[in-house]
Formats: sequence, structure tokens, C-alpha cells
Amino acid sequence: MKPIRFGLVGYKFMGKAHANALSRLPMFFETDVPVERAVLCGRDAQWLEQAAATLGFSKTETDWRKLVEREDVDAIDITAPSNAHKEIALAAIKAGKHVFCEKPLALTAADAREMESAAMEAGVANQVGFNYRFAPALVLAKRLIDDGKIGRIFHFRGSFLQDWIIDPEFPKVWRLDKSVCGSGALGDLGAHVIDAARYLVGEIEEVSGAQTTFVKERPVVERMTGLSGKASADAPRAKVDVDDASAFIARFESGAMGLFEATRFAQGHKNDMRLEINGEKGSLRFEFERMNELWYFSAEDEPGEQGWRMIQVSEGIHPYWDRWWPAGHVIGFPETFAHELYEFAQRAAQGQACSPSFADGARVAEIMDAVELSARRRAWVAVGEV
Ligand SMILES: NC(=O)c1ccc[n+]([C@@H]2O[C@H](COP(=O)([O-])OP(=O)(O)OC[C@H]3O[C@@H](n4cnc5c(N)ncnc54)[C@H](O)[C@@H]3O)[C@@H](O)[C@H]2O)c1
Repeated sequence: MKPIRFGLVGYKFMGKAHANALSRLPMFFETDVPVERAVLCGRDAQWLEQAAATLGFSKTETDWRKLVEREDVDAIDITAPSNAHKEIALAAIKAGKHVFCEKPLALTAADAREMESAAMEAGVANQVGFNYRFAPALVLAKRLIDDGKIGRIFHFRGSFLQDWIIDPEFPKVWRLDKSVCGSGALGDLGAHVIDAARYLVGEIEEVSGAQTTFVKERPVVERMTGLSGKASADAPRAKVDVDDASAFIARFESGAMGLFEATRFAQGHKNDMRLEINGEKGSLRFEFERMNELWYFSAEDEPGEQGWRMIQVSEGIHPYWDRWWPAGHVIGFPETFAHELYEFAQRAAQGQACSPSFADGARVAEIMDAVELSARRRAWVAVGEV
């Protein structure tokens, strides 16, 4: 089968995660569609050459406009900050390329819907980077739910907690600038929880949210990457215009209730995504920092033998595991990217629809816009009203 040749935009945090994942696929997923790290794109020619050598790309391009037109590229993989997603994706779609785009898909739901429509009309493969749903434990959770093991779902509870911007002297990196990232904790972390909720429980109908910004001004930095940067002592300060913390309650179309929280101010929590689902017949619990485990309670177990059981998902019978290691030889964060890019390449090569698609990215954006409006209005908002 012909390979899918990737043009990757960006080479820092997510760029590395995607390049690493693409490099693993031929080693571990060798019987399926081959993938190639074809062209790496970044703005600074000198750094780009270094990055290309490190990340295993033989060709480079300093302008994404040229990248998307190249004949030797089949798929554009966008890992630039969120404000660049729409323009690059639309140009790539126009050039007939398949597109994988990091989350959040766009700065607003309106922009995300435009990307969704363009991809649908062009008929190109499109996928958004909700990598957490590719943790084997979450795929197993979905199977248990689909098999009826949990029964009617009453509650979804999801939080994503980090602690890296508590220091008020931490600079205003792009993740704190609304014009670059769209929203703060909500789009950065909450988007993954919302995707997991839709994946496992279904559509969300309405939300009631609250948001806050604890540190209202921060020092400005000249050079920064996504998670770091150093400001000089006399650096000017700029207003922080995104949420430091967001929380909301939600009603699902199924009648289930949802409780969501996203913050980067939870001291001691590093990348702490937690989900819990409670249904008529059982419950499920997942913590990302222990991602090789899924906790399951079944009310159908014999009375006297009931209790939470921890399923270690590290055996070949679990999703994706036959590709990796013997049982108990755990996997981590990087493998979630291998799984999502494997699915994307397979489906793009076979002309099948990808999941999560731009349509999923747009629904998540609609929910986030509704949460923001609800927080401003201090009232319930129907998803799609914005
Ligand atoms: N799925 C996840 O778990 C996850 C985690 C982190 C970030 N993200 C998302 O990935 C995206 C990137 O985040 P990051 O942490 O990798 O950021 P980063 O700052 O570490 O890297 C961004 C990269 O994009 C490049 N870039 C910026 N503008 C560009 C342009 N116009 N043309 C070409 N290259 C450009 C930068 O030089 C850099 O290499 C964001 O949308 C973010 O929300 C997703």
C-alpha cells in the first residue's frame, strides 16, 4: 500500500510528540499503512534544520503555505498554537491534503464549523488531536458501556488539574493569551474532558458554568514555547485575558448529569485527568497518571463479592496492546499519539471517516463557547446557542 507522507507543522511539545509517534508506527504497526516523516515546517530556518535532524525529517519548509502545496506530502499535521489551526487547515484542505489538527480545533465554534464544512466538502480525511481517548483503558471503558455493562448512565464526573502557573511571576506564555489560544484552562484541559464525555456518554445539551482568572496580570516574555518562558525582572506586565479555572455542570441528551472542572491552579496535580461514570448496573473510574488501569464496579457481581476491581489493560486482548509489549510492560502518554496517528493514517489511506473528526472538534468548541457565555450570563446556556 502507498505510504501516507506527513508534513508536520511545529516541532516543540506536540511536534515532538507527533514526530515520535510517527517514528514508532513503522516499528510497531508495520503490517498496516506505512507512514513517512516527509517534511517538517517551522518559521526559523536554522532551528528548523536542527529540529528536522533530531525528529527524523529529511526535508524542511519555512512557510506552511508552500508545505500544503507540495506534491511529496499527503497529510498535513498541525501542531502550531491554536490561532494558526484554521488558516493552515483550510489551505491544506483546499490543496486536497488530509489534515490532522491538534486540539482545540479552533479559537471559536464558528471557526471550527468552517473547518468541518471545508473538510466535508473536499472529502479529505480529518481528525482532531483528542489523544486521551486513545488510552487503552478509555477504549475499554467505551466497550463496557456499549456492551451494556454499565446500563443507563446517571453521572459523568470529569476533572483535569495541573499546577504550573500558580506563581504570579510565571510569564504570560501563549497559553495565557486569548488571541492565540482561544481560552485558558477550558480549551487547554477542559477540551479533553469534554471529548471524553461525548465519547463515553454522548451529546451534551446545555451547560451552566463559572470561570475565574486568579492572576490578572503577568510579566511579558519575548521568546516562549507552550509551557515555559522566562521574563526579565523589569519586564512589562500584560493583562491575562483567559480563564485560570473553569467549572460547569451539564445535562446530556440521554438525561445524564455532568460535572466538569479544569484548572492550572491545583497545587500538587501535574497532569491529573480523572473521569468517573456511574450507571444503573455499574461504575467506571479512570486516572490518566495511572493510565494502564481501569476501575470497574459491577452491581451484577454476586452479593458479598461486589467491589471495585482494577483492570490492568496491559494484555494483548486490550485495545492496541498486541502491537506493544508483553503483559505488565506498561505504556504512557507518547503511545496515545501513536494510536491516534495510526488510526488517522489507516483511515485516510482507505478513504474511511476518521474519529474524532473535525465535526467532533466543532461540537467540543460549541460546548466551550456555551460554557463561556453561561459564565458571563450566570445562567444555563443551550449548546449551539452561540
Ligand atoms: N493533545 C495534547 O495533549 C496537547 C498537549 C499540548 C498542546 N496541545 C495543542 O497543540 C498545539 C501546540 O501546542 P504546543 O504545546 O506543542 O506548543 P509549542 O509552543 O510547544 O509549539 C508550537 C510550535 O509551533 C510553531 N509555530 C508557531 N507558529 C507557526 C507558524 N505560523 N508556522 C509554523 N510553525 C509555527 C512553533 O515554532 C513551535 O514549534 C496547541 O493547539 C495546543 O493546544 C495538545
